[in-house]
Amino acid sequence: MKDKVVLITGANSGIGKETALGLAKMGAGLVLVCRDKGKGEAAREEIAKATGNSSTELLVADLLLQREVRRVAAEFKANHPKLDVLINNAGASFINYAETEDGIERTMAINYFTPFLLTNLLLDTLKGSAPARVVNVTSSEHKDGRLDLNNISRDSRMGRVGAEAYRRSKLALVLFTYELARRLQGTGVTANCLHPGAVRTKIWSHAGVFTPLFRVLSVFMSSAEKGAEASIYLASSPEVEGMSEKYFEKKTSKPSSEISYDEALAKKLWDISLKVTGHVAAPAAVLE
Ligand SMILES: NC(=O)c1ccc[n+]([C@@H]2O[C@H](COP(=O)([O-])OP(=O)(O)OC[C@H]3O[C@@H](n4cnc5c(N)ncnc54)[C@H](OP(=O)(O)O)[C@@H]3O)[C@@H](O)[C@H]2O)c1
Repeated sequence: MKDKVVLITGANSGIGKETALGLAKMGAGLVLVCRDKGKGEAAREEIAKATGNSSTELLVADLLLQREVRRVAAEFKANHPKLDVLINNAGASFINYAETEDGIERTMAINYFTPFLLTNLLLDTLKGSAPARVVNVTSSEHKDGRLDLNNISRDSRMGRVGAEAYRRSKLALVLFTYELARRLQGTGVTANCLHPGAVRTKIWSHAGVFTPLFRVLSVFMSSAEKGAEASIYLASSPEVEGMSEKYFEKKTSKPSSEISYDEALAKKLWDISLKVTGHVAAPAAVLE
Protein backbone atom coordinates (compact mmCIF):
# COMPACT_ATOMS: atom_id res chain seq x y z
CA MET A 1 0.00 0.00 0.00
CA LYS A 2 3.04 2.30 -0.25
CA ASP A 3 2.19 5.52 -2.15
CA LYS A 4 -1.54 4.78 -1.78
CA VAL A 5 -3.82 7.38 -0.22
CA VAL A 6 -6.66 5.98 1.89
CA LEU A 7 -9.43 8.08 3.43
CA ILE A 8 -11.28 6.37 6.28
CA THR A 9 -14.20 7.79 8.24
CA GLY A 10 -14.75 7.04 11.92
CA ALA A 11 -11.12 6.07 12.38
CA ASN A 12 -10.69 6.95 16.05
CA SER A 13 -12.26 3.84 17.53
CA GLY A 14 -13.40 0.27 16.99
CA ILE A 15 -13.21 -1.25 13.51
CA GLY A 16 -12.17 2.03 11.88
CA LYS A 17 -9.12 2.50 14.09
CA GLU A 18 -7.99 -1.09 13.62
CA THR A 19 -8.48 -0.75 9.85
CA ALA A 20 -6.34 2.38 9.87
CA LEU A 21 -3.68 0.60 11.96
CA GLY A 22 -3.61 -2.37 9.59
CA LEU A 23 -3.29 -0.20 6.49
CA ALA A 24 -0.67 2.03 8.14
CA LYS A 25 1.39 -1.12 8.81
CA MET A 26 1.27 -1.76 5.05
CA GLY A 27 2.68 1.72 4.41
CA ALA A 28 -0.46 3.50 3.19
CA GLY A 29 -0.84 7.25 3.57
CA LEU A 30 -3.94 7.72 5.68
CA VAL A 31 -6.46 10.48 6.07
CA LEU A 32 -8.53 9.87 9.18
CA VAL A 33 -11.88 11.65 9.28
CA CYS A 34 -13.05 11.91 12.89
CA ARG A 35 -15.72 13.88 14.72
CA ASP A 36 -13.70 14.80 17.80
CA LYS A 37 -10.33 16.52 17.38
CA GLY A 38 -8.88 15.15 20.64
CA LYS A 39 -9.91 11.54 19.96
CA GLY A 40 -8.78 11.80 16.35
CA GLU A 41 -5.39 13.22 17.32
CA ALA A 42 -4.93 10.45 19.93
CA ALA A 43 -5.70 7.80 17.28
CA ARG A 44 -3.33 9.44 14.79
CA GLU A 45 -0.52 9.47 17.37
CA GLU A 46 -1.22 5.86 18.41
CA ILE A 47 -1.11 4.69 14.79
CA ALA A 48 2.13 6.57 14.06
CA LYS A 49 3.77 5.18 17.23
CA ALA A 50 2.63 1.60 16.68
CA THR A 51 3.54 1.43 12.99
CA GLY A 52 6.34 3.95 12.46
CA ASN A 53 4.22 5.32 9.61
CA SER A 54 4.04 9.08 10.07
CA SER A 55 2.06 9.84 6.92
CA THR A 56 -1.26 9.88 8.76
CA GLU A 57 -3.33 13.02 8.72
CA LEU A 58 -6.46 14.03 10.61
CA LEU A 59 -9.50 15.85 9.27
CA VAL A 60 -12.21 16.76 11.76
CA ALA A 61 -15.89 16.68 10.79
CA ASP A 62 -19.27 15.88 12.27
CA LEU A 63 -20.46 13.55 9.54
CA LEU A 64 -24.08 13.81 10.64
CA LEU A 65 -24.19 17.18 8.90
CA GLN A 66 -24.13 17.59 5.14
CA ARG A 67 -22.32 20.94 5.32
CA GLU A 68 -19.54 19.22 7.28
CA VAL A 69 -19.36 16.39 4.73
CA ARG A 70 -19.02 18.98 1.96
CA ARG A 71 -16.39 20.94 3.90
CA VAL A 72 -14.26 17.89 4.68
CA ALA A 73 -14.44 16.66 1.08
CA ALA A 74 -13.30 20.09 -0.12
CA GLU A 75 -10.47 20.15 2.48
CA PHE A 76 -9.32 16.73 1.33
CA LYS A 77 -9.38 17.72 -2.33
CA ALA A 78 -7.49 20.95 -1.68
CA ASN A 79 -4.52 18.96 -0.39
CA HIS A 80 -4.73 15.62 -2.19
CA PRO A 81 -4.75 15.24 -5.95
CA LYS A 82 -5.38 11.50 -5.60
CA LEU A 83 -7.44 9.03 -3.59
CA ASP A 84 -6.83 5.30 -4.00
CA VAL A 85 -9.25 3.95 -1.40
CA LEU A 86 -12.29 5.48 0.28
CA ILE A 87 -13.55 3.54 3.30
CA ASN A 88 -16.99 4.64 4.50
CA ASN A 89 -16.77 3.17 7.99
CA ALA A 90 -18.30 5.74 10.39
CA GLY A 91 -21.65 4.57 11.65
CA ALA A 92 -24.03 4.71 14.55
CA SER A 93 -27.33 3.39 15.84
CA PHE A 94 -29.65 5.85 17.58
CA ILE A 95 -32.37 4.53 19.82
CA ASN A 96 -34.50 7.73 19.83
CA TYR A 97 -35.95 9.61 16.91
CA ALA A 98 -34.38 12.95 16.08
CA GLU A 99 -33.53 14.77 12.88
CA THR A 100 -30.32 16.44 11.81
CA GLU A 101 -30.30 20.09 10.75
CA ASP A 102 -30.84 18.76 7.21
CA GLY A 103 -34.13 17.23 8.34
CA ILE A 104 -32.92 13.64 8.15
CA GLU A 105 -33.38 10.91 10.76
CA ARG A 106 -29.94 10.53 12.33
CA THR A 107 -29.26 6.82 11.72
CA MET A 108 -30.13 7.19 8.03
CA ALA A 109 -28.03 10.36 7.90
CA ILE A 110 -24.78 8.93 9.24
CA ASN A 111 -25.03 5.36 7.92
CA TYR A 112 -26.42 6.06 4.47
CA PHE A 113 -26.68 9.66 3.28
CA THR A 114 -23.16 10.55 4.46
CA PRO A 115 -21.45 7.72 2.50
CA PHE A 116 -23.64 8.60 -0.50
CA LEU A 117 -22.69 12.30 -0.40
CA LEU A 118 -19.02 11.87 0.52
CA THR A 119 -18.46 9.26 -2.18
CA ASN A 120 -20.14 11.40 -4.83
CA LEU A 121 -18.10 14.44 -3.80
CA LEU A 122 -14.86 12.44 -4.10
CA LEU A 123 -15.79 10.49 -7.22
CA ASP A 124 -13.82 12.64 -9.66
CA THR A 125 -10.68 12.24 -7.53
CA LEU A 126 -11.23 8.47 -7.29
CA LYS A 127 -11.72 8.20 -11.06
CA GLY A 128 -8.58 10.25 -11.64
CA SER A 129 -6.65 7.83 -9.39
CA ALA A 130 -7.90 4.59 -10.98
CA PRO A 131 -7.47 1.78 -10.21
CA ALA A 132 -9.24 2.87 -7.04
CA ARG A 133 -11.66 1.32 -4.55
CA VAL A 134 -14.71 2.29 -2.52
CA VAL A 135 -15.31 0.11 0.55
CA ASN A 136 -18.58 0.51 2.44
CA VAL A 137 -19.00 -0.97 5.91
CA THR A 138 -22.55 -2.24 6.07
CA SER A 139 -24.02 -5.02 8.22
CA SER A 140 -25.71 -8.40 7.85
CA GLU A 141 -28.59 -6.62 9.62
CA HIS A 142 -29.47 -5.16 6.19
CA LYS A 143 -31.16 -8.50 5.45
CA ASP A 144 -34.08 -7.54 7.72
CA GLY A 145 -34.24 -3.97 6.41
CA ARG A 146 -37.26 -2.44 4.70
CA LEU A 147 -37.18 0.75 2.67
CA ASP A 148 -40.06 3.15 2.11
CA LEU A 149 -38.79 5.41 -0.65
CA ASN A 150 -41.64 7.88 -0.15
CA ASN A 151 -40.47 8.57 3.34
CA ILE A 152 -36.81 7.73 3.39
CA SER A 153 -35.27 10.61 5.27
CA ARG A 154 -37.87 11.35 7.92
CA ASP A 155 -39.94 8.28 8.74
CA SER A 156 -40.41 8.58 12.49
CA ARG A 157 -41.28 4.87 12.72
CA MET A 158 -37.58 4.30 12.10
CA GLY A 159 -36.76 5.91 15.37
CA ARG A 160 -39.23 4.09 17.55
CA VAL A 161 -37.17 0.96 17.28
CA GLY A 162 -33.58 2.04 16.73
CA ALA A 163 -32.65 -1.32 15.20
CA GLU A 164 -35.18 -0.79 12.40
CA ALA A 165 -33.54 2.43 11.31
CA TYR A 166 -30.14 0.73 11.48
CA ARG A 167 -31.27 -2.18 9.26
CA ARG A 168 -32.87 0.20 6.78
CA SER A 169 -29.78 2.40 6.59
CA LYS A 170 -27.51 -0.59 6.00
CA LEU A 171 -29.84 -1.97 3.28
CA ALA A 172 -29.72 1.45 1.58
CA LEU A 173 -25.91 1.28 1.79
CA VAL A 174 -25.83 -2.12 0.03
CA LEU A 175 -28.20 -0.88 -2.71
CA PHE A 176 -26.00 2.23 -3.10
CA THR A 177 -22.82 0.14 -3.32
CA TYR A 178 -24.21 -1.99 -6.16
CA GLU A 179 -25.66 0.99 -8.06
CA LEU A 180 -22.37 2.85 -7.66
CA ALA A 181 -20.44 -0.19 -8.95
CA ARG A 182 -22.71 -0.35 -12.02
CA ARG A 183 -22.28 3.38 -12.69
CA LEU A 184 -18.50 3.02 -12.33
CA GLN A 185 -18.12 0.16 -14.80
CA GLY A 186 -15.21 0.83 -17.13
CA THR A 187 -13.70 3.58 -14.94
CA GLY A 188 -11.28 1.38 -12.99
CA VAL A 189 -12.99 2.29 -9.70
CA THR A 190 -14.62 -0.60 -7.84
CA ALA A 191 -17.26 -0.53 -5.09
CA ASN A 192 -17.87 -3.30 -2.58
CA CYS A 193 -19.42 -3.57 0.84
CA LEU A 194 -18.92 -5.81 3.84
CA HIS A 195 -20.26 -7.08 7.13
CA PRO A 196 -17.42 -7.14 9.68
CA GLY A 197 -19.00 -9.78 11.94
CA ALA A 198 -20.35 -9.12 15.43
CA VAL A 199 -17.55 -7.02 16.87
CA ARG A 200 -16.95 -5.79 20.42
CA THR A 201 -17.01 -2.00 19.96
CA LYS A 202 -18.74 0.98 21.53
CA ILE A 203 -21.51 0.91 18.93
CA TRP A 204 -23.31 -1.55 21.21
CA SER A 205 -23.32 0.91 24.11
CA HIS A 206 -26.11 3.02 22.57
CA ALA A 207 -28.79 0.34 22.65
CA GLY A 208 -30.94 1.86 25.40
CA VAL A 209 -32.44 -0.78 27.69
CA PHE A 210 -30.63 -3.51 25.71
CA THR A 211 -27.16 -2.08 26.47
CA PRO A 212 -26.54 -4.32 29.53
CA LEU A 213 -27.58 -7.37 27.46
CA PHE A 214 -25.07 -6.48 24.73
CA ARG A 215 -22.41 -5.98 27.39
CA VAL A 216 -22.93 -9.61 28.44
CA LEU A 217 -23.08 -10.84 24.81
CA SER A 218 -19.92 -8.94 23.93
CA VAL A 219 -17.80 -11.80 25.34
CA PHE A 220 -18.92 -13.83 22.31
CA MET A 221 -18.05 -11.07 19.84
CA SER A 222 -14.86 -10.66 17.83
CA SER A 223 -12.17 -8.17 18.70
CA ALA A 224 -12.06 -4.91 16.72
CA GLU A 225 -8.78 -6.12 15.20
CA LYS A 226 -10.53 -9.20 13.81
CA GLY A 227 -13.49 -7.04 12.73
CA ALA A 228 -11.18 -4.87 10.65
CA GLU A 229 -9.87 -7.77 8.57
CA ALA A 230 -12.52 -7.54 5.84
CA SER A 231 -12.11 -3.77 5.43
CA ILE A 232 -8.35 -4.16 5.17
CA TYR A 233 -8.76 -7.04 2.72
CA LEU A 234 -11.13 -5.13 0.43
CA ALA A 235 -8.97 -2.01 0.62
CA SER A 236 -5.66 -3.66 -0.12
CA SER A 237 -5.72 -7.24 -1.37
CA PRO A 238 -4.64 -7.99 -4.96
CA GLU A 239 -7.15 -10.87 -4.79
CA VAL A 240 -10.03 -8.41 -5.14
CA GLU A 241 -8.41 -6.13 -7.74
CA GLY A 242 -11.06 -5.31 -10.34
CA MET A 243 -13.79 -7.09 -8.35
CA SER A 244 -16.88 -4.93 -7.86
CA GLU A 245 -20.56 -4.99 -6.87
CA LYS A 246 -20.00 -7.57 -4.15
CA TYR A 247 -21.05 -8.04 -0.53
CA PHE A 248 -18.54 -9.70 1.79
CA GLU A 249 -19.06 -11.28 5.19
CA LYS A 250 -15.66 -11.11 6.75
CA LYS A 251 -13.36 -11.98 3.84
CA THR A 252 -15.78 -14.10 1.82
CA SER A 253 -18.08 -12.87 -0.95
CA LYS A 254 -21.65 -13.87 -0.01
CA PRO A 255 -25.13 -13.14 -1.39
CA SER A 256 -26.78 -10.13 0.20
CA SER A 257 -30.55 -9.90 0.67
CA GLU A 258 -32.77 -10.50 -2.36
CA ILE A 259 -34.13 -6.95 -2.37
CA SER A 260 -30.61 -5.49 -2.41
CA TYR A 261 -30.27 -6.76 -6.01
CA ASP A 262 -33.36 -4.81 -7.17
CA GLU A 263 -31.81 -2.47 -9.76
CA ALA A 264 -34.96 -0.39 -10.26
CA LEU A 265 -35.13 0.25 -6.51
CA ALA A 266 -31.43 1.15 -6.43
CA LYS A 267 -31.89 3.68 -9.25
CA LYS A 268 -34.86 5.30 -7.52
CA LEU A 269 -32.93 5.42 -4.26
CA TRP A 270 -30.01 7.09 -6.06
CA ASP A 271 -32.25 9.78 -7.56
CA ILE A 272 -33.95 10.49 -4.24
CA SER A 273 -30.58 10.58 -2.47
CA LEU A 274 -29.26 13.14 -4.95
CA LYS A 275 -32.19 15.37 -4.08
CA VAL A 276 -31.93 14.80 -0.33
CA THR A 277 -28.23 15.56 -0.26
CA GLY A 278 -28.46 18.37 -2.79
CA HIS A 279 -31.08 20.35 -0.88
CA VAL A 280 -29.76 21.08 2.55
CA ALA A 281 -32.66 23.22 3.74
CA ALA A 282 -35.75 21.17 2.98
CA PRO A 283 -35.15 17.56 1.96
CA ALA A 284 -38.75 16.57 2.68
CA ALA A 285 -40.07 19.13 0.21
CA VAL A 286 -38.09 17.69 -2.68
CA LEU A 287 -39.64 14.28 -2.11
CA GLU A 288 -43.19 15.54 -2.60
N1 LIG B 1 -19.52 -3.65 15.84
C1 LIG B 1 -20.25 -4.47 15.10
O1 LIG B 1 -20.59 -5.58 15.53
C2 LIG B 1 -20.67 -4.07 13.74
C3 LIG B 1 -21.42 -5.00 12.97
C4 LIG B 1 -21.80 -4.64 11.70
C5 LIG B 1 -21.43 -3.41 11.18
N2 LIG B 1 -20.71 -2.51 11.94
C6 LIG B 1 -20.36 -1.21 11.35
O2 LIG B 1 -18.99 -0.97 11.53
C7 LIG B 1 -18.75 0.44 11.46
C8 LIG B 1 -17.81 0.86 12.57
O3 LIG B 1 -18.49 0.72 13.82
P1 LIG B 1 -17.80 0.16 15.15
O4 LIG B 1 -18.48 -1.12 15.48
O5 LIG B 1 -16.33 0.18 15.03
O6 LIG B 1 -18.34 1.22 16.22
P2 LIG B 1 -17.61 2.45 16.96
O7 LIG B 1 -16.45 1.99 17.75
O8 LIG B 1 -18.71 3.16 17.67
O9 LIG B 1 -17.06 3.34 15.76
C9 LIG B 1 -17.89 4.18 15.02
C10 LIG B 1 -17.04 5.29 14.48
O10 LIG B 1 -17.89 6.19 13.72
C11 LIG B 1 -17.67 7.51 14.21
N3 LIG B 1 -18.83 8.38 14.09
C12 LIG B 1 -20.09 8.16 14.56
N4 LIG B 1 -20.85 9.25 14.35
C13 LIG B 1 -20.06 10.16 13.74
C14 LIG B 1 -20.25 11.48 13.27
N5 LIG B 1 -21.43 12.09 13.41
N6 LIG B 1 -19.23 12.12 12.68
C15 LIG B 1 -18.02 11.53 12.55
N7 LIG B 1 -17.76 10.29 12.98
C16 LIG B 1 -18.77 9.61 13.57
C17 LIG B 1 -17.36 7.33 15.68
O11 LIG B 1 -16.77 8.51 16.21
P3 LIG B 1 -16.94 8.88 17.79
O12 LIG B 1 -15.93 8.04 18.51
O13 LIG B 1 -16.65 10.34 17.83
O14 LIG B 1 -18.35 8.53 18.17
C18 LIG B 1 -16.41 6.14 15.61
O15 LIG B 1 -15.13 6.55 15.24
C19 LIG B 1 -20.12 1.11 11.52
O16 LIG B 1 -20.52 1.50 10.22
C20 LIG B 1 -21.02 -0.01 12.01
O17 LIG B 1 -22.36 0.14 11.61
C21 LIG B 1 -20.33 -2.82 13.19
